[in-house]
Amino acid sequence: MNGVNIGPIQFYDHHPAPADFYSDVIKGLQQDQKMIPPKYFYDQKGSELFDLICDTQEYYPTRTELAILKDNANEIADNIGPECLLVEPGSGSSYKVRSLLDALKPQAYVPMDISKTYLIEAASKLSDDYPWLEVHASCIDFTDKLHLPPILSEEAKKVAFFPGSSIGNFEPADAVHFMSDIANMVGEEGGLLIGVDLKKDKTILDSAYNDNQDITAQFNMNLLTRINNELNAEFDLASFEHNAFYNEKLGRIEMHLVSNMEQEVSVDDVLIKFDKGESIHTESSYKYSIAEFQKLAGKAGFESSEVWTDKKDLFSLHYFTMT
Ligand code: AVI
Repeated sequence: MNGVNIGPIQFYDHHPAPADFYSDVIKGLQQDQKMIPPKYFYDQKGSELFDLICDTQEYYPTRTELAILKDNANEIADNIGPECLLVEPGSGSSYKVRSLLDALKPQAYVPMDISKTYLIEAASKLSDDYPWLEVHASCIDFTDKLHLPPILSEEAKKVAFFPGSSIGNFEPADAVHFMSDIANMVGEEGGLLIGVDLKKDKTILDSAYNDNQDITAQFNMNLLTRINNELNAEFDLASFEHNAFYNEKLGRIEMHLVSNMEQEVSVDDVLIKFDKGESIHTESSYKYSIAEFQKLAGKAGFESSEVWTDKKDLFSLHYFTMT
């Protein structure tokens, strides 16, 4: 596919299929353990709330990962090598990559995001701030297919950047599947730079998802507001509560919305029955030790090259190459 010039950036529109919010919600709410996929958190309001979560005192991952990137930018660049083609699936605001660009000096940067307007806006802003950088923005659903713009040099080393411990929101088997897709995209000579939240004391984890200002609770509850607004549903927000806890056995934070009474809720023309105390599982956020994550990435064909952490061992940044 050919790209089009939008100002200084090249833009490739792969027309990702819109998510089927209605059938995902109905299907999820009809399971024994009711669930809703976490990707639906991120409407306009949900994305704003997530940005606020990242600034809370309790939610350490964002600032810790940024500090790791900044403190080790030169070493990271030495490991990756010059002139790579840096690809970021789910690039969003392309904020974290800024910490790397000056040291890494990639040949080109390929942000990939499902939201066309947000992608063009973020890519154009980045290009304004880094005029020497070639930017090729690709509008795709990265959980679907990872298309690389065709005109980019076949010889360049391809490196995927996947920060934020978003990999923790995948079930482990799905994480392997996704990393295998990345492995295919970057090829034999390629690499993967990925941020992964570490296992740690349960009290630190529990409070990261139960901040004092209740922003995480609002982020979770916003899912019900969104379903009410977009799917003609009648969730009574006062009868649901945010619940987030670290499940030590499964090594994951679980977020739930718990019904505080027996009730029936209509979602368009479907009635969903809740017992008192019954929950909708809205998100899992897996935490991995360094060795556990290396093993997981190994299943996708990656071999550990280097790992950086902060002094308190809260968060890890892995660089993998292909075996
Ligand atoms: C986006 N993701 C990595 C966040 C996490 O920590 O799993 C989402 C989040 N949910 C509640 N707080 C933050």
